[in-house]
Amino acid sequence: MTDFTRAASLSDLPESQPVRVDVGSTPIALVRQGDTVHAVADTCTHAEASFCDGGHVEDGFIVCPLHFASFRLTNGEAGDPPADDALAVYEVRVDGDDVLVRV
Ligand code: FES
Repeated sequence: MTDFTRAASLSDLPESQPVRVDVGSTPIALVRQGDTVHAVADTCTHAEASFCDGGHVEDGFIVCPLHFASFRLTNGEAGDPPADDALAVYEVRVDGDDVLVRV
């Protein structure tokens, strides 16, 4: 576990639209919902598609653009098939306009 790393500006994140950032060598999808930001792995556990390459957010789940598996943003649990394995989720802190993620 590392320290928090600045990953983005809150004001640059659109509402409920996944944005790709790399923290170190870890690809992460950031999703802003109001003043809350979720950080999940940006690699689908089914066949490694990127959520930020056409995915969307629906009812608290991030939906994969390739085969439409969904994962709960708060804890990464798999929702709709075909994915079975959970996504990694990362701790986020918002400090003013700074979005900090711990990988
Ligand atoms: S790669 Fe995401 S559902 Fe298949």
